[in-house]
Amino acid sequence: MEPKSVFKRKIARINLTIREALLDLKSVKSPGLKGKTILYDTTNHIMEGGKRIRPLICMLACEGVEGDSSKVLPTAVGIELIHTFTLIHDDIMDGDDKRRGKPSIHSMCGEPLAILTGDSLFALGFKWISSNFEMDGIDEGRMRRVLNLATDTCLKLAQGQLMDLSSASDPRVDWRESATDLKTAPLFGLASAAGAILGGGTEEEIECMEKYGSYLGMAFQIKDDVLNLTGNAERIGKPNGGDLTNGKLTLPIAHALRGAQEKKNLSILKREPKKIAELIKQNGSIGYAERVARKIVREAKQNLEVLKEESARNALAMLADYAVARGV
Ligand code: IPE
Ligand code: IPE
Ligand code: MG
Ligand code: MG
Repeated sequence: MEPKSVFKRKIARINLTIREALLDLKSVKSPGLKGKTILYDTTNHIMEGGKRIRPLICMLACEGVEGDSSKVLPTAVGIELIHTFTLIHDDIMDGDDKRRGKPSIHSMCGEPLAILTGDSLFALGFKWISSNFEMDGIDEGRMRRVLNLATDTCLKLAQGQLMDLSSASDPRVDWRESATDLKTAPLFGLASAAGAILGGGTEEEIECMEKYGSYLGMAFQIKDDVLNLTGNAERIGKPNGGDLTNGKLTLPIAHALRGAQEKKNLSILKREPKKIAELIKQNGSIGYAERVARKIVREAKQNLEVLKEESARNALAMLADYAVARGV
């Protein structure tokens, strides 16, 4: 099941709205560079090719609480813009030269322009979430709640990325309190909760949808970490193996190093990616990470029981399964 074939119409609407969102940058011209619309070009380049899982979840969560998903489209798109901003800055931090099947922004135009491209998408993301205030039938109090949640989410993402950086330099950092919990899960939680909040969901539905998104996000990140070790770079459209060479303590790597940690020679091992790859094999760490991810997905799906609308509930269950079954 590939979301892009199952949710064709929703993705087409999301993509149209993304194009509209980027139009703002057409007027941002660079006098030094012959008046070129650099930021319009770089944002269009990087926005193309994503799976759009987060905006889809936002729209389906809205439908799950019997809301009209066209009314949350600006928020769904705002979340995708913020997500893409994190990818640009993440590629600078990880030193990755490909993203979404194409050159990453910093590898194409250098870090200063990549930082500005990310900044632009971050600002546009909040602009589009806020623009949901204008939508007919949207409750102001609920909108304010979504904006507060979005701000908290971005702070958690920054904290998660900080922990991710620390894991590369400090072997004592535990994966559980870092990457998976903070850098990825909150944005999925936001997508899902925002759909339920703006769709008019009850307190119980909102709480369950936030949990659904967060669990799904954790499983999604674990699968991303597995794909970094086992995936086909061409298919996933971004480099793999970087977690090993950067010494990132992802779940499968942390599992492989558990014995080594006891022997207190972890920091030496981290400089030897081949040795870690061998330990991953010996300790069955890929299978372990896949099992953990599947268990987390089951937790995610339990939270869907509260939803009244059956087709959205089934679609969200399908997306949760996809998070761990995917090869891209
Ligand atoms: C990549 O997210 C970054 C992670 C949180 C693992 P996606 O796999 O959703 O990336 P796109 O949006 O499809 O490119
Ligand atoms: C994903 O980080 C999370 C964020 C971008 C905040 P990763 O470094 O694990 O993701 P990929 O593998 O580069 O997409
Ligand atoms: Mg990365
Ligand atoms: Mg990273």
